[in-house]
Amino acid sequence: MASEPTTVTITGGGGQIGYALMFRIAAGDMLGPDRPVRLRLLEIPQGMRAAEGAALELQDCAFPLLREVDVTDDPLTAFNGTRIAMLVGARPRAAGMERGDLLAANAGIFGPQGKAIGAVADGDVRVVVVGNPANTNALVAAASAAPDIPADRFSALTRLDHNRAVGQLAEVLDVTPDEIADVVIWGNHSATQFPDVSHAILPDASSILDALAERLGGEAAAAAWLDDVFIPRVAGRGAEIIEVRGSSSVASAANAAIDHVRDEQLGSHRGMTSAAVVSRGEYGVPEGLVCSFPVTSRGDGHGYRVIEGLRFDDRARARFSASVDELVAERDAVRALGVL
Ligand SMILES: NC(=O)c1ccc[n+]([C@@H]2O[C@H](COP(=O)([O-])OP(=O)(O)OC[C@H]3O[C@@H](n4cnc5c(N)ncnc54)[C@H](O)[C@@H]3O)[C@@H](O)[C@H]2O)c1
Repeated sequence: MASEPTTVTITGGGGQIGYALMFRIAAGDMLGPDRPVRLRLLEIPQGMRAAEGAALELQDCAFPLLREVDVTDDPLTAFNGTRIAMLVGARPRAAGMERGDLLAANAGIFGPQGKAIGAVADGDVRVVVVGNPANTNALVAAASAAPDIPADRFSALTRLDHNRAVGQLAEVLDVTPDEIADVVIWGNHSATQFPDVSHAILPDASSILDALAERLGGEAAAAAWLDDVFIPRVAGRGAEIIEVRGSSSVASAANAAIDHVRDEQLGSHRGMTSAAVVSRGEYGVPEGLVCSFPVTSRGDGHGYRVIEGLRFDDRARARFSASVDELVAERDAVRALGVL
């Protein structure tokens, strides 16, 4: 067993997703059964007691891999030497808040946190942003950590959208989720995202589109289901959960964040997955935007790489472009605030 623990920082450690994350990380679900962890929980003063209480519970689990838990409201302490930073704490949209207000409030969180990561984190830190608006928060954090930390160490979570898409397909095709490969979420983690199944396959490499046509009574019926049911349901799943559960997605979001980091660190062994990473101009996406792409990781320390060369038809291209346009508008809004 490796003896030197990996430092993992969770911001919003007193919140719901933070609570769902920390026990699974401490149990080894994220970094594997032989990598001890040191957890750092960052909170604002109002959230400190909740995070401290969670830390007591962590101790009571007596997890063999958990070496230490620190709770702090100081970003420089929280990110000191951190290898994996999971930025969950964010400012939620309050009643009457315009999108620009939301972006500004969160830039006020993710700017200073990015700066602190640049100042004190491990030089090989990996950062995943969960707190919304996740893509643009990651853009702000990456810009604020520069030049100390390369921007490609920052990513944002679209794995929850990816897993939701897989879950929907598994249900309609009556297969298990692990039989579905190569689904892609393109664009922003928002209602404009484009969940794309046109490259997706079953274990025998047969096309999911063909399987849907067979199941739903022809190509036209499959296309209608994708347009009218699947895409709106995946993109609107967060709202559906709030309506049914009375509260936003928590365990599924934490699960997706664990999947995101685990695949990035240990390798994505099941073909492509989805993550929002810093664009290098792939698929015509403006450089620097944090955009969801098909990605893969070999688990060799180089992080996620974008899988290039997938083809779009005109309708798919239009959907993806609309989501990229939204990312451009968000970037321009934070630029106008003088943040970038
Ligand atoms: N990307 C995704 O797929 C996805 C999915 C679900 C939720 N989310 C987002 O995750 C975020 C957290 O959700 P939640 O349910 O845990 O919310 P929550 O309100 O339960 O917890 C958020 C916690 O963050 C803390 N916090 C606020 N500002 C902070 C700061 N500057 N530093 C450290 N901590 C801070 C709060 O005190 C609170 O304890 C929200 O923005 C939510 O929209 C993203």
